[in-house]
Order: sequence, then C-alpha cells, then structure tokens
Amino acid sequence: MTAAVPTRPGTYVVTGAASGIGRATADLLRTQGHTVIGVDLHTTGRLDSEVTADLATTEGRRAAAAQVLDVAGGELAGAVLAAGVGPVGGGRHPSLIAEVNYLGAVELLERWRPALAAGRPGKAVVIASNSTTTTPLVPGRAVRALLAGDVDRALRATRLLGPGRAAVVYAASKIALSRWVRRTAVLPQWAGAGIRLNALAPGAVLTPLLQQQLDDPLEGKAVRKFPIPVGGFGAPDLLAQWACFMLTDAADFQCGSIVFVDGGTDALVRPDDWPRSVPARRLPGYLRTFLRGGPR
Ligand code: NAI
Repeated sequence: MTAAVPTRPGTYVVTGAASGIGRATADLLRTQGHTVIGVDLHTTGRLDSEVTADLATTEGRRAAAAQVLDVAGGELAGAVLAAGVGPVGGGRHPSLIAEVNYLGAVELLERWRPALAAGRPGKAVVIASNSTTTTPLVPGRAVRALLAGDVDRALRATRLLGPGRAAVVYAASKIALSRWVRRTAVLPQWAGAGIRLNALAPGAVLTPLLQQQLDDPLEGKAVRKFPIPVGGFGAPDLLAQWACFMLTDAADFQCGSIVFVDGGTDALVRPDDWPRSVPARRLPGYLRTFLRGGPR
C-alpha cells in the first residue's frame, strides 16, 4: 500500500521521535525525502537532525523550541506533536503527564507558529487520544486548569482519586489538548495565516507506552478489557500514515478537527453523544459567532 505523504520537500519537526507513533511518523517522512528534526529525551541516531530536550520542564520546552527554529531556519512545513507520557508510573508521574502531554505540545506550537506560517504555510498535527471520550469522570476543573496553563491546580483537582488518578490526569491532559486545538486552530493567527492545526486521536496502539500499561497489574487488566470492535491493537505505522496524510494538501480544508482512529471504541461506547445539535443554553453564543462572520 502507498501512504499519502507530503510530496514537495520540506522540513518537518516530530516530537517523541525516538519511539512509537512519533518514530514511525519521522521514518515515513524521511522515506519521502523530507528533512526531519526529531525532538525527544533520547537520541535515535536515525534522524537528519536531533534535538534532545526534556519537555516536562519549562526550560526544556524553551530550549527545544529555540533549537528547532534554529535548525529549521525559521520555516517549518509541518509539525507532529507525538511526545507523550502514558498513564503508568509513580511519584512525580501525574505532573509529568500534564507537563509533557499538554504543555509539551501547546508551548512548542505557540513558539513555532510564525515558522509554520512561513512554511508555505505549514500543517500541525497534535496526537491526542480516545481516552478523551472513553475515560469516565474526568473533573472539568482539571481540564480548565490545564487550559489556563496551571498544572498545580489541575493536579489538586485530581488528588483524591486514588489508584486511577494517573489515568484521569492522562485523559484530562488529552481533553485539554484537544480543546486547545479546536479553540486555537480557528484563530486569525492560525487559520487566517494559512496554518492547518488538527489532532489525531488514536485508540490502543501497540507501542512501548501501551506495553507499559499492559505490564502494569492494574492498568493491564483494564487495557485487556478495553473493547475494540475491529479487534486487536493498532499499529504505530498505521497511525503514522494518518499523521502524514494530515500534513498533505488534502488537509487544506481541515481545521480544528479531532480525527479518531481507534478501531471503533469511541463509536461503541459513545454512539449518540456526537454529533449533537446546539442546545438552547448555547444559542446566544452561537448566534454571536454567526453575526461576527468569518473570512471567505
Ligand atoms: P512511546 O512511549 O512509544 O513514545 C513517546 C515518546 O515521547 C518517547 O520517545 C519518549 O521518550 C517521549 N517523551 C516522553 N517524555 C518526554 C519528555 N519529558 N521530553 C521529551 N520526550 C518525551 O508512546 P506512543 O504510544 O508512540 O505515544 C505517542 C503519542 O500518542 C503520545 O502522545 C500518546 O499519549 C499518544 N497515544 C498513544 C496511544 C497508544 O495506545 N500507544 C493511544 C492514544 C494516544
């Protein structure tokens, strides 16, 4: 099968490029002759250019953003934000999830926006997750705190949750990320500057992140019970094809979309929740948006 990958040569940045979905995406772009700047905690020795940085810290994110802009010469054809921390681990783990999964995508993209606007213009694909719609009882306060950039407040909102806490923080980080994509993609500085910002929401994909969950006594049970109508786990190469497709000209009319590629789990557990008509309480805001109009 031939994958749909951008054809004109360009410079792409991929975070989380040392493993799983990020690595498969970087490899696919390289086979098409693109320059790939990989960002990760570790080097792989496989990329054209590598930036090692810890996206769990403010300094690490700042350094990664600056180094990428330097290597790219201020112009990016596209960005795939795949670095992520899964719901397994102890100690500082919940804060790592929030820092890497939310701020590690949002802060980098905000710094790369001018380079993406210059990149013919560029496309950005954020890797979200179907945990956004399949994890129950994620506190809205945690999501709102992340959207406000307040990781401590988000963690406080989940502190009484017991052993399932990390899974809830994980889902909160991906809900906040998806909402940030939808709110941001449509802004004049993004859509108006020609940038196409969208998210891909995978289900269970067999990568080291999922393997770590499978190896965990508590999470492993839950993951094995996770209903996947098509059967089996997804493959990272397949998700990479979707990410690359969302970097092609086919995405010129795609803006603020969350594309679920999850073997049907979301459709199975939430069949009637979406699409949904505008409820009465949202009519005033909806009408205001229409009256303001938009560019044609
Ligand atoms: P993975 O564990 O194979 O790759 C994640 C990469 O992120 C690793 O190379 C890791 O070193 C990097 N990373 C982690 N912390 C970092 C930090 N502090 N600074 C810099 N880099 C860091 O995971 P996978 O599965 O490929 O995940 C890719 C994305 O897809 C993640 O955002 C994940 O949340 C998301 N996802 C994965 C699913 C799955 O089932 N595998 C399901 C839904 C979403």
